[in-house]
Amino acid sequence: MVIPEDVARRAEVLHQTLRYHAYRYYVLDAPEVSDAVYDALFNELKALETQYPELATPDSPTQRVGGALRQEFRRVRHPRPMLSLSNAFSPEELRNWRQRLWKLLPPESQVSYVVEPKIDGLTVVLHYENGHLSLGATRGDGEVGEDITANLRTVHQLPLVIPVRAGVGLPPARLVVRGEAYVAVDDFHAYNAEQQAKEERTYANPRNFAAGSLRQLDPKITAQRPIRLWVYQVVLQEGGTMPTNQWEALAYLRDLGFPVNPANKRFPDDRFAELIEYCLAWEKERHQLPYEADGLVIKVDDFAQQELLGAVAKDPRWAIAYKYPAEEAVTKLLDIVVSVGRTGVLTPKAILEPVHVGGVIVRNATLHNADYIAEKDIRIGDTVVVLRAGEVIPRVVRPLTEMRTGDEQVWKMPDRCPVCGGPVLRLPGEVAYYCMNISCPAQLIRSVEHFASREAMDIRGLGGKQAVLFVEKGLVHDVADIFYLRAEDLLALEGYQEKRVNNLLSAIAVAKERPLYRLITALQMKFVGPTTAQLLVQHYPSVEKLQHVTQEELEAIPGIGPKVASSVVGWFQEPRNLEVLRKLVAAGVRMAETEARTATTSGTSVAGLTFVLTGTLPHLTRSQAKALIVKHGGRVTENVSRKTDYVVVGEAPGSKARKAEELGIPMIAEAGLLALLGESLS
Ligand code: IVH
Repeated sequence: MVIPEDVARRAEVLHQTLRYHAYRYYVLDAPEVSDAVYDALFNELKALETQYPELATPDSPTQRVGGALRQEFRRVRHPRPMLSLSNAFSPEELRNWRQRLWKLLPPESQVSYVVEPKIDGLTVVLHYENGHLSLGATRGDGEVGEDITANLRTVHQLPLVIPVRAGVGLPPARLVVRGEAYVAVDDFHAYNAEQQAKEERTYANPRNFAAGSLRQLDPKITAQRPIRLWVYQVVLQEGGTMPTNQWEALAYLRDLGFPVNPANKRFPDDRFAELIEYCLAWEKERHQLPYEADGLVIKVDDFAQQELLGAVAKDPRWAIAYKYPAEEAVTKLLDIVVSVGRTGVLTPKAILEPVHVGGVIVRNATLHNADYIAEKDIRIGDTVVVLRAGEVIPRVVRPLTEMRTGDEQVWKMPDRCPVCGGPVLRLPGEVAYYCMNISCPAQLIRSVEHFASREAMDIRGLGGKQAVLFVEKGLVHDVADIFYLRAEDLLALEGYQEKRVNNLLSAIAVAKERPLYRLITALQMKFVGPTTAQLLVQHYPSVEKLQHVTQEELEAIPGIGPKVASSVVGWFQEPRNLEVLRKLVAAGVRMAETEARTATTSGTSVAGLTFVLTGTLPHLTRSQAKALIVKHGGRVTENVSRKTDYVVVGEAPGSKARKAEELGIPMIAEAGLLALLGESLS
């Protein structure tokens, strides 16, 4: 079979990477990646080799299973193969395992199971001759291990002589037991903290700490390490009371003085459902334990049945490890796409080659923000580590840079919003990038909601729900459209009767007269809340003035920093924001802080104020409007001048509106006029 070039290249990269990580793990006891990551790479290579068997050269990492042995230790052959375990990741797999047992055992067999925590440490094989420790070995590749007797002698929990107590009877002439040497989680952290303080070597996890400590050449170093032990298996026994099942064996080992885990449990076959419950509940509980356990081991209790069931290759049929799905996996980063949030923040998202992580298929993952991507040097095309812990959103942890081919691409935040094409700005001191267009479809609902909110224009009857409705019905394309809502459109909406429509329209009309700082707050300039808006208005009492201010001028105002300054300046650079302003002006929304405001907001009268009317008002005739103004003490003139306080704008306004705009004179609509006068249509 011809091996495609990219497959061969990938296999070579996997070889190198696995070799490197195996060395870090087995030889240096200093892994850089989690087991899950190593396994994922290993499995990828295995899959390639299954498809293209020629790839499985003798030096492939898949052809070597088990630990590399340290040269310095004497090699010892185990009296029996030290088997490993196959895994189950779900209750279903456990049930299948049980089905398989049943088929192999004689009918009517009484079956029980012993369930033990699967301790995450270093397997040790301990030999006793007439009750005296004669040899302690690592598991190695399961056939041959390393003689680490001198180091094991320093482990306090390990009996050098058995039985530990008098009166238990004669020890077996020969006894070989298997157990797990481990380090408690607290001891591990304490050690690392101490080392860190001294700027000396730390360990990646408790298991590596245990393994690294027991594979020291100088037992004096091992003696200083807090190594502990659980013993769980009789490998070989000559003489003494012979246990006939695992449960008895555990009791027997305890009697002889070995540390045996008290968390071990036994379930009869008719309580298999309970056993499964126990396994499921254990996922949370295991984190409460003082030691690390990466699962549970379920064993057929009866030794005769174990014998009958035997093993397939290196895995016994009579035992299985129930493991929790790995929380980490490795996959390819296919692309980085940007989504725009409701506040205009641009968030990069990873598009992944689908991969199983923590029991689900993951296709997307968070990359947090642009800084994260740059710091971790994550590139499109990278092989990346993905973490999904519990229910949280999966995230890309880091790239495996050693797997780069050179085709990876550095990613950069786009300078245009992917939704609306608006300018993207990063404000000083901020991690986030923002789309500056407040009419951006991604932000519109939120913009409308914010515009009408209590701290902004305070439009009663226009909240989140209505914002969604108006935007979705196409009545509002930007915040200015709020002032162009028409009664007939609203009446066509479900739940909008005349009264509700009138209330809403008058609330909108009233809002046109809000103080300038509220309008500024409403316009969604990032980091400009009501307080900052008031400060801005004190220095620039009209939108027009604010629009032409420079970054430096703004920063000169005490209380305004570079972040707010660039946000304000950036806001006015987006043409669509200016368009919104033009529409607001045309609708008669107050754009300036005039002296008149003091009079009107204090609510008494419009006495002494000069009005100009232009265009056709929706309800009032020109003379009705004039009469109302005069009734409240105001004057109506024909021409707009600097002395004009308000221009009342109706349908098809003439040159007067333009003039008012030029002079920066506030323009109001009929509703605004009525609000100002405290009148309503009757
Ligand atoms: S029984 C044939 N019981 O898990 C029996 N193993 O892949 C095989 N381990 O490295 C082992 N706690 O050292 C068994 N209570 C326990 C265990 C346990 C930890 C380790 C074992 C081996 C790995 C199995």
